Amino acid sequence: MHDSHHHTRIDEETARFWDERYGQSERIWSGRPNPHLVDVAGRLPAGTVLDLGCGEGADAVWLAGQGWRVTAVDVSSTALDRARVAATEAGVTPRVEFRRHDLTRDFPTGTYDLVSAQFLQTPLEFPRLDVLRAAARAVAPGGRLLVVEHGEFPPWATDHHRHPDVHFPTPQETLDGLDLAPADWETERLDAPRRTATGPDGHTGELVDHLLLVRRR
Ligand SMILES: C[S@@+](CC[C@H](N)C(=O)[O-])C[C@H]1O[C@@H](n2cnc3c(N)ncnc32)[C@H](O)[C@@H]1O
Repeated sequence: MHDSHHHTRIDEETARFWDERYGQSERIWSGRPNPHLVDVAGRLPAGTVLDLGCGEGADAVWLAGQGWRVTAVDVSSTALDRARVAATEAGVTPRVEFRRHDLTRDFPTGTYDLVSAQFLQTPLEFPRLDVLRAAARAVAPGGRLLVVEHGEFPPWATDHHRHPDVHFPTPQETLDGLDLAPADWETERLDAPRRTATGPDGHTGELVDHLLLVRRR
C-alpha cells in the first residue's frame, strides 16, 4: 500500500531517462564534490543540508564527512544505489539519508540549514522555478539556498549539443524568479565564476557557472 502510493509520485518517463543515462557507464560523474559547494559549505558550521538531484552522491558524502546531517534526493534509483555505496565506502552512512524523489511531483518535507541545487538541470521538461521556490521555502531561519548551474556550454560541447535556443538563466534572473521578500532574505553571492575542468575527452577547458547564494534572515 505504502509503496504503490509512493510510486504515483515518480514520473516513470523521467526515472527511465535518468536511469538509462546513469546506466550508460559505471560512473558518470567524477566522484569529487562540486568545487563551489565545497567553497561555500566549507565556510559554514555543519548543520542540516538538503541536496537536490544528488546524482552519485559525491556532494552528499563530502558534506557528511564534514559533519553535516544530509538528506539527498534524486529521481534515479541507479544513481541512488551508487550514492549509497559511496557513503558506505566513506563510512558516513549514519549522517546521510538518500531518498528517491521526483522533484516535479513532490518535494522533501522539513527545513534545512543549507539547501543545495548543483547542476539540477535536465533536458526533460522541468518546472525549474517552482522547484527552486520550494527549495527556498525549505530553508530554515538563518539558513541558505545555494544554486549552481552551467552558465555556458562547456568548450567540449559538440554542435549537436549547442541548441541555439538554450538559455542559461543568469543568477539575477534566477533571483528575480524566486521572488524572495528582501526583508526576509539577504543575497550573499550572485556571480558567474570561471573554473578549469577536464572534459570527457581528457582535454581541459574553462567553464562558466552561474551561482546564487541567499540567506534567510
Ligand atoms: C546534471 S545532474 C547533476 C548531479 C549532481 N548534483 C552533480 O552536480 O554532479 C542532474 C541530476 O538531477 C536528477 N534529476 C533530474 N530530474 C529530476 C527530478 N525530476 N527529480 C529529482 N531528481 C532529478 C538526475 O537524476 C541527475 O542526477
